[in-house]
Amino acid sequence: MNERTVRLKDGGLMPALGQGTWHMGDHKNTEGQEIESIRLGISLGMTLLDTAEMYGEGASERMLGKAIAPLRREELFLVSKVYPWNAGRDNIFKSCENSLKRLGTDYLDLYLLHWPGSVPLGETVECMERLVVDGKIARWGVSNFDTDDMEKLFSVPGGEKCAVNQVLYHLGSRGVEYGLLPWLRGHGVAMMAYCPVAQGGILGRQLLMDKTLNEIAGAHGITVIQLLLAFALRRQDVAAIPKAGTPQHTRENAKAGEIRLADAEWERIETAFPAPAHKVPLDIQ
Ligand SMILES: NC(=O)c1ccc[n+]([C@@H]2O[C@H](COP(=O)([O-])OP(=O)(O)OC[C@H]3O[C@@H](n4cnc5c(N)ncnc54)[C@H](OP(=O)(O)O)[C@@H]3O)[C@@H](O)[C@H]2O)c1
Repeated sequence: MNERTVRLKDGGLMPALGQGTWHMGDHKNTEGQEIESIRLGISLGMTLLDTAEMYGEGASERMLGKAIAPLRREELFLVSKVYPWNAGRDNIFKSCENSLKRLGTDYLDLYLLHWPGSVPLGETVECMERLVVDGKIARWGVSNFDTDDMEKLFSVPGGEKCAVNQVLYHLGSRGVEYGLLPWLRGHGVAMMAYCPVAQGGILGRQLLMDKTLNEIAGAHGITVIQLLLAFALRRQDVAAIPKAGTPQHTRENAKAGEIRLADAEWERIETAFPAPAHKVPLDIQ
């Protein structure tokens, strides 16, 4: 059972291991299995559920709404995202209302600006704070914000209330560790890792073939994908949201929260896949 949490700046707790939903709900013939996977994950403690108005233009939120309909809302941590072009006073309130309707709930635990756009950040922050006051969202954050984007955000009134930055992070893409992650830490913003299993290896075939990773995974009786997830979860202030559309993958991912490696094993992994020693642009999917 995954009970580890990440403490947010408002004192709230966010589950460290969650479930992504991108491309889920896209096809009627796989929806039943996807709902089964999500419910299984929740029963195993993966109660942080990530979606977006973008995913299938609402289909993912609708699927997730069906999955959670019989469950107790207060045991879930629901995250959705607004398109950048909807993140201003003309559209955000309707966007949020539509997400809530599709999810069958009356509040989100976290609402994210999906990526930096052209609506002034000050306007987005004002709207996000209004949604908090109205009880539609418990808190807000951003996604795909690099360090300079975070600095701009913190320069507008209320920008410092940003609770989370959701960014691409996996063993084969460690760029955030150089500048962004220390910045987030210094400002009390939690990081949420998307693509934590490198899209099942698609974003890094070298990971699945790597001798060191295969040896260490073999020694623990786990898969390299589970090892990737254990890597993403290794820090106390980072959450991860792997997407699994099959119950078997969900079960494997849930177990990744319990994987403990020896220091020497982490050192071997560090040597094989070191973090960059200089700034690299934020990786984005
Ligand atoms: N903010 C953003 O811009 C952004 C961008 C991308 C993603 N996200 C969010 O982050 C979530 C995760 O990212 P992602 O879905 O792109 O990539 P991911 O979670 O790294 O990888 C998902 C892929 O890995 C496979 N997989 C999962 N668990 C596995 C296991 N134990 N063994 C083998 N294969 C496994 C899945 O297969 P099956 O489905 O067949 O199980 C799926 O093909 C998304 O779903 C979405 O919620 C956010």
